[in-house]
Amino acid sequence: MKGAIVGAGAVGMAIAYSMLIQNTFDELVLVDIDRRKVEGEVMDLVHGIPFVEPSVVRAGTLADCGGVDVVVITAGARQREGESRLSLVQRNVEIFRGLIGEIMEHCPNAILLVVSNPVDVMTYVAMKLAGLPPSRVIGSGTVLDTARFRYLLAERLRVDPRSLHAYIIGEHGDSEVPVWSRANVAGAFLSEIEPAVGTPDDPAKMFEVFEHVKNAAYEIIERKGATSWAIGLATTQIARAITRNQNRVLPVSVLMSGLHGIEEVCLAYPAVLNRQGIDRLVKFSLSPAEEEQLQRSARVMRQTLDEIQF
Ligand code: NAI
Ligand code: LAC
Repeated sequence: MKGAIVGAGAVGMAIAYSMLIQNTFDELVLVDIDRRKVEGEVMDLVHGIPFVEPSVVRAGTLADCGGVDVVVITAGARQREGESRLSLVQRNVEIFRGLIGEIMEHCPNAILLVVSNPVDVMTYVAMKLAGLPPSRVIGSGTVLDTARFRYLLAERLRVDPRSLHAYIIGEHGDSEVPVWSRANVAGAFLSEIEPAVGTPDDPAKMFEVFEHVKNAAYEIIERKGATSWAIGLATTQIARAITRNQNRVLPVSVLMSGLHGIEEVCLAYPAVLNRQGIDRLVKFSLSPAEEEQLQRSARVMRQTLDEIQF
């Protein structure tokens, strides 16, 4: 299968590297407005191909992306130190206003995988600009946040992160929602072990884990200027769920069409992903507190969408 990454910056190249070493596509085209940069990145990357399962990686323009199955979009401004993801919205809407139409011109049958922030808003904007059905416009959502949550919880509980099931849903951002009520290790719910888990009354203070998750990007950006490696791995998992027709459940950003009474916004919610894109959503039964937090996240998205023109 053929993929394209539009935006060969820190995130785009982390995605490209992850996809190459995981043999995700037979051919991967990297596109960037800065032609010299993307040429240099590809020249550097392909010199590693003798060490991995060979595939074709090349620099190109969208005109070279005919027949692409998945277009990953990382083009856009990123947060400066202390800046919120939502503050990027107008800059990145301007970029999408021209970019999405060009992508559709050259890749009319592709699934769009949006990573640019604020990713839930940009997923909705991309879907509207592309005129595609919601199933074919996916945002990276809280796949990264959920991985952070699982990693940090697993450290506390001394289990393999792959044996711990816990989700972050809602906005990939400051209003994101930790679903403590469904967190479990091998089916043993944390909330049955400690009913106060996730609340200030929890003697183990597990709520501190979520604070670290919510603030992770700010902490990393303050130290290294951007986040890249984990989103590279996370985006590759989403792409593999599509290219390998996995029916895998991931909390990607999707158009909420009435679930929890939420409509006409994109939010991260567990979705079944396969070759067609989003097959269906997996309905979560949330605690009253989680339900209210999800509604608040939806209101933040709605308000942001109401404030932009695209
Ligand atoms: P970056 O500045 O390193 O790379 C952005 C790239 O986009 C640059 O190479 C730039 O030349 C390119 N670009 C800009 N306009 C373009 C256009 N019209 N067509 C093609 N290429 C264009 O930024 P970085 O760190 O790679 O972040 C990219 C985006 O990803 C940001 O919006 C950032 O906030 C977001 N991000 C999202 C995450 C998520 O979990 N959804 C995680 C980390 C970053
Ligand atoms: C993150 C920001 C950059 O790494 O979206 O979560």
